Amino acid sequence: MKNSEYPKLSELTSMRAIARPVYFKKMENFVSTNGKTCVALHVYDGYSTIRVNIFDVTVEVLHNRGLSEKNVYYCKFSKNEKGFVNLDGDPSPLKDPDIRLSDFGQRIEQDADELFSNLLKLISMVRDTKYGEDTLSDLAVRILMGIKEDFVRSSAAISMHHEQEGGLVLHSLNVACAAYYSLKVYKNLDAELLVCGAALHDIGKIKEYKTDELGYATYSPLGQGLGHMIYGIEIVDEYAGQENYNKERVELLKHIIASHHGELEYGAVAKPCIPEAVLIHSLDDADAKLNMFEKIYKDLKPGENTEKTLFGLDTKAYKPSYLK
Ligand SMILES: [Fe+2]
Ligand SMILES: [Fe+2]
Repeated sequence: MKNSEYPKLSELTSMRAIARPVYFKKMENFVSTNGKTCVALHVYDGYSTIRVNIFDVTVEVLHNRGLSEKNVYYCKFSKNEKGFVNLDGDPSPLKDPDIRLSDFGQRIEQDADELFSNLLKLISMVRDTKYGEDTLSDLAVRILMGIKEDFVRSSAAISMHHEQEGGLVLHSLNVACAAYYSLKVYKNLDAELLVCGAALHDIGKIKEYKTDELGYATYSPLGQGLGHMIYGIEIVDEYAGQENYNKERVELLKHIIASHHGELEYGAVAKPCIPEAVLIHSLDDADAKLNMFEKIYKDLKPGENTEKTLFGLDTKAYKPSYLK
C-alpha cells in the first residue's frame, strides 16, 4: 500500500485512532512537570509532523528496544480529549514493501535552481555603479555562485520555517522579492544594499546546518557555537577579500547579516542601525511566520484555531471559516 493511501496523521482525532508508517524525525529526553523522565518523539508521515510524549522511558531505553531516529516504523496513535497524542503499543518494523524512505523526504515544491536564477536576476536589477564599478551586486552574485551547490540544497531551519531541502533559497528569494517591492513604497532606501542584504541575510546557514539526503537539517558540529550570522559575515569577508568593493558598503552588508534577527535575545549580533537593516529584519520575520501559517493551514479546519499556543508565533493560529 502506498504512503498516500494510509490515513494521514492530520486525520487523527479523539474519535478516530490511526495506524500507519511514520518516520522518526527526532527523539528527545525531557522531565515532565511531575518529575517523570519522558521522551518527546517527533514523527512525520510525509505530510505533517506531530509530537508524541512517551512516559517513564529515556531515548537510551528506546534505542535498546531497537528504535532509532531516521527510521520508519509502523505505529498506532490515538488522541485523548485534551488533544494529547498517545502511542498505542510498541512500534513495529515496517513490512510494507510499497513504503520507501524517500516517501518521508522534505523538499520544496518549486525548482530550487530556477529560484536561484531568479535571485541572481533580482540582484542584477539593483546593480548600482554610483560607488564604483565593483558593486555590491557583483559581490552578492560572486558569493552566491561560489556557494551555489550548498545554498540551493540547504534547509533554512531545523524546524519552524522552510525546514526542507531548498528551503534556504526559497526563503532568501521571498525576502529579497518583498524587499524589492517595498522600494515602491519606501523610495529613499538604498535598493542595492537592501536587495543584496535580503538575498544574503541567511547564507551562513550553509555552515550552521547540515541537510541530509531526505532534506532534514541538523546543527553542524560548531553550528550553534558560532551561528549563521557569524558564518555569514565570514563568507562575505572571504569573497570581498582584497577586491575593490566600497569598504563601507561591504561593512553595511555585514551589518545587515549581523542584525537581521532584530533583538539580541533572538540571536542578533547587533541591533539594526540603518533603515535597510530594520526592513530586512521585519521581512525576514514575516516570511518565516507566513510559512508557519502555510503549514498549519494544511491541517487546520476552517473556523478553528490550533489547540496549543505555537512556538514561534506565540499565539494560537486561527483559520478563517471561509477558507478551504
Ligand atoms: Fe536568520
Ligand atoms: Fe531568514
